Amino acid sequence: MSRQAVGAPLSRVDGRLKVTGRAMYAADHPTDGVVHAAVVGSTVARGRITGIDARAALALSGVLKVISHRNAPRLAYRPNPSSNNPEGGERLHVFQDDKVLFHGQPVAVVVATTPEAAQHGASLVEVRYDAEKPSTDLTGTPAHAPVTYARGDADQAMRSAAVRLEMTYRTTRNHHNALEPHATIARWDGDRLTVWDKTQWVVGTQKELAAVFGIEPDAVRVISPCVGGAFGSGLRAWPHVTIAALAARELARPVKLVLTRKQLYSGTGYRPAYEYHLRLGSDRRGRLIAMVHDIKAETSSYEDFEEGVLAAGQMLYSMPHVRQAYRTVPLDVNTPLYMRGPGHATAAFAIESALDELAHELDIDPIELRRRNEPSEDESDGTPFSTRRLRECYTLGAREFGWDRRAPEPRSTRDGDWLIGMGMAAGVHTTRRNPAQARVLLDARGSALVEAATSDMGPGTCTAMTQVAADALGLTVRAVDFRLGDSTMPPTPAHGGSQTMASVGSAVQDGCDQLRRQAIELAVADERSPLHGADAGDVAVTDGRLHVKDDPARGETYQQLLARNNRTRLETLGSFTPEEPRFSMYAYGATFAEVAVDHRLGLVRVRRMLGVYDVGRIISPKLADSQALGGMVGGIGTALLEHTVTDHRDGRIVNANLADYLVPVNADVPDLRAIYLDGEDREASPIGVKGLGEVVHIGVAPAIANAVFHATGRRIRRLPITAEALL
Ligand code: MOS
Repeated sequence: MSRQAVGAPLSRVDGRLKVTGRAMYAADHPTDGVVHAAVVGSTVARGRITGIDARAALALSGVLKVISHRNAPRLAYRPNPSSNNPEGGERLHVFQDDKVLFHGQPVAVVVATTPEAAQHGASLVEVRYDAEKPSTDLTGTPAHAPVTYARGDADQAMRSAAVRLEMTYRTTRNHHNALEPHATIARWDGDRLTVWDKTQWVVGTQKELAAVFGIEPDAVRVISPCVGGAFGSGLRAWPHVTIAALAARELARPVKLVLTRKQLYSGTGYRPAYEYHLRLGSDRRGRLIAMVHDIKAETSSYEDFEEGVLAAGQMLYSMPHVRQAYRTVPLDVNTPLYMRGPGHATAAFAIESALDELAHELDIDPIELRRRNEPSEDESDGTPFSTRRLRECYTLGAREFGWDRRAPEPRSTRDGDWLIGMGMAAGVHTTRRNPAQARVLLDARGSALVEAATSDMGPGTCTAMTQVAADALGLTVRAVDFRLGDSTMPPTPAHGGSQTMASVGSAVQDGCDQLRRQAIELAVADERSPLHGADAGDVAVTDGRLHVKDDPARGETYQQLLARNNRTRLETLGSFTPEEPRFSMYAYGATFAEVAVDHRLGLVRVRRMLGVYDVGRIISPKLADSQALGGMVGGIGTALLEHTVTDHRDGRIVNANLADYLVPVNADVPDLRAIYLDGEDREASPIGVKGLGEVVHIGVAPAIANAVFHATGRRIRRLPITAEALL
């Protein structure tokens, strides 16, 4: 018997391609006759363009054209409901009018024969503005009408609660800062548009370009075989994608547009800044009675971006009374977008810090406090949980992390100049699934090609899908080739929200199951097959050979079967359509952190971290670790380092580069360990997975903040936790 591929610690099937530099990222694709575009960004955050002087740019050798609202054609900008465009408001229409809505907004594009000439040209375009004072500060700015939720009477219950806490938590804007910059190559062949793009959703970008240009989606092809990290930034087609396509049409030549590192901060989305006001009431034994969440988050003036910040407050802990109000505040900024653990991560910082504050107030162990408030059903709507094993996460995590060595009193453990603290936090993320398809093709050599229009922004989609396909087809991993990232492939949902494995993986499983059954049916009906007359249910496939389960000697290979039947291939289309959920489905985790804080310098070092996860079945343990450890590294960034700084006087981001925007480097990252509870969740998806990529990030920042409190006795309610805050 060959070993099962699912559950085996396989290395990335495309690892060699990537480490040898042969993987093709968006800007790498060779295109004959390509010319280069550089965006000119506005230098004011609000106002009108009063003049554009492109003469100096146009005089430059190699510059072909400068396009702005003065000479750009009108674009259709049809509504596009099947997108990650926010429901409220309207996306930025590039070069359609003289309005400036945020600092760095594209106001012109220079196209030239070389990238250098384009960049130089862009620096020479003179734009004059009638500027107004922008509003970019979340604090004290009027908000949109709130999204609300209520059960019980939280305000009344708060008044009678024996223990009451009231806190405001603040998080800053974070940018995705993936290694690969956003880039697009666009080429028109008559009325047909082909785009090589950095995207987490080729189908989404295809539909968005079709809507923007007023053409049919079939006339647009989007290709994106490799994505060099994204963390959510590739979930929308941003204005530069339109600009590349527009410029290509105007010049009747293929155009390549690569955003500069600086332009990524205004040209794509970000995790919005939040102000999270939380009131909490409990009895003396720590049983929660009520929570009141008043949440404010930034959005742009032209789109109302909302994310799933409310869910955890409704279902993570048991309590009769909850009231929530979530207000977005329109500012003169570009529109935010999902970033790893969107909404949930911010909610976790507030809620999980607050639980820690309550534990301290009542002198109850933080884990014990959480146990006392563990619900038996989803109290937001009374549905049962498909699986919820948070208690096991706590028990296992406490044991493996050595939680019993934690002296309860804050500021009670020292190591020289360092104050040592341990903290923990729960994390929860919605199990998301959406319809997906996958094509499966078995060729005459007995090798399989499996295709779906999904992406791989880094989790290792090709590898995990290969594992699922190999087992379902009865092939070795080597005999399976999984391809993705082309809108001509079977459609899939956005590669985000931790839904790829559950959705696309289930479609792959279905397509491969169908194909294996088709081959078995063909064999048992074939008089010349050794399997003729066998019961199809008794036939299995191992290493590409169909055989009777109880009589492995009786059988034949896919190759023999196809050759004898004059078939060059077998082909199926697998699909997954999620049923109306009857269960409350979430992935869970418990994150533990130990920190050391230099009591004189306020320096925080994370010493070790452990995550224990209830995420259903683990398809690919090595890749799961890559996700979990990466999620923890990202969480260290959110907790201690990442902070997009805006100068509110002019709305400019002042640290739009990787020298001043801090992300964790090797020296910031200690020993990290991830543990996954055995098991699966068949309600969540046919292949038993709940989704992993987000939940591993979600509890990290509060676990670190709680550890900092335990180390120092100082409660920091603002991220990132800086040395200044601790001094
Ligand atoms: Mo993730 S924020 O859904 O890419």
